[in-house]
Amino acid sequence: MSKILVTGGAGFIGSHVVDTYIGEGHDVAVVDNLSSGFRNFVNSNATFYEMDVRSEGLRAIFDEVKPDVVNHLAAQIDVRRSVEEPSFDADVNIRGSLNVLECAVKCGAKKFIFASTGGAIYGEPPDLPVSEAYWPKPICHYGAAKYSVEHYIYLYRHLYGLEFTILRYPNVYGPRQNPHGEAGVCSILIGLMLEGKAPTLFGFGEPLRDYVYVGDIARANLLAVEHGSGETLNLGSGVGTSVRTIFDTLREILEFPHEPILKELRPGEVRQIYITGDRARSVLGWQPSISLQEGLEKTVGHIRAAGS
Ligand SMILES: NC(=O)c1ccc[n+]([C@@H]2O[C@H](COP(=O)([O-])OP(=O)(O)OC[C@H]3O[C@@H](n4cnc5c(N)ncnc54)[C@H](O)[C@@H]3O)[C@@H](O)[C@H]2O)c1
Repeated sequence: MSKILVTGGAGFIGSHVVDTYIGEGHDVAVVDNLSSGFRNFVNSNATFYEMDVRSEGLRAIFDEVKPDVVNHLAAQIDVRRSVEEPSFDADVNIRGSLNVLECAVKCGAKKFIFASTGGAIYGEPPDLPVSEAYWPKPICHYGAAKYSVEHYIYLYRHLYGLEFTILRYPNVYGPRQNPHGEAGVCSILIGLMLEGKAPTLFGFGEPLRDYVYVGDIARANLLAVEHGSGETLNLGSGVGTSVRTIFDTLREILEFPHEPILKELRPGEVRQIYITGDRARSVLGWQPSISLQEGLEKTVGHIRAAGS
């Protein structure tokens, strides 16, 4: 059993990671400023600290918790906001991460797990699915910030011996993803379609993305507690799925009668990205286990039950 501090543990993915850790008997503390997360998403067996990762007060929490492992998921996740407000994005995603790294080292944590992005870090690679061997060339500030943090993480291992596993997430979807947010196309489509509104498909529905169910991503975070020292791992399915296919699958599940509205892609968004999962398979023994159909059905069921 490890003592694990999870930043962003009140958010969509972080709350599933916390549930998985607690289910396996780990002792979990959550730090979150609730800017996009929700207090009631936090597992009742976790200790909760409402705190901004940029705050000087973070250090006292780390000293109190004394985590063995730090899993850093807290972030500004909106790609378009990162393009419109690059300083804000860098403040949360770079300066905040640096503060978390400093606290991790100073309180004697042994390992750092980081939620990076496989969707926004690579830019527009010529060959897909893209592997970790490709040199990232992000085309949005959010991706550049995540890449920058990866460099700090290598540095902290070099300088202070802090072990790490960097997980580059694909397009994660599932229960608790905000249907009213700016990120998370599956939940946004479900939210609108349940209200009987025709959703807008940007890029005319053609952009390809790698959709992986949140339970699979939480399992990778569990495996990363014990495995993957010094590794950067894509958590991809290796398959690109168009937004149009997501819409059509949901249309069947929901028996939705309307056609979508088709528009051009917005600044900072890539046309197509899907990523490998081979290295994660050999290092963590991980691969996605939930099909898109099953995952979307589970997500619809959850959003319906939540009444939103
Ligand atoms: N959802 C995806 O498909 C996806 C893809 C790639 C990477 N990621 C990464 O996974 C992580 C979790 O994303 P998510 O989709 O669950 O988003 P989310 O917005 O639901 O979760 C982020 C959490 O961080 C908290 N937070 C934000 N700023 C904070 C701050 N300054 N201090 C403390 N807490 C703060 C929010 O309140 C929220 O609970 C992020 O690091 C994101 O970049 C997500």
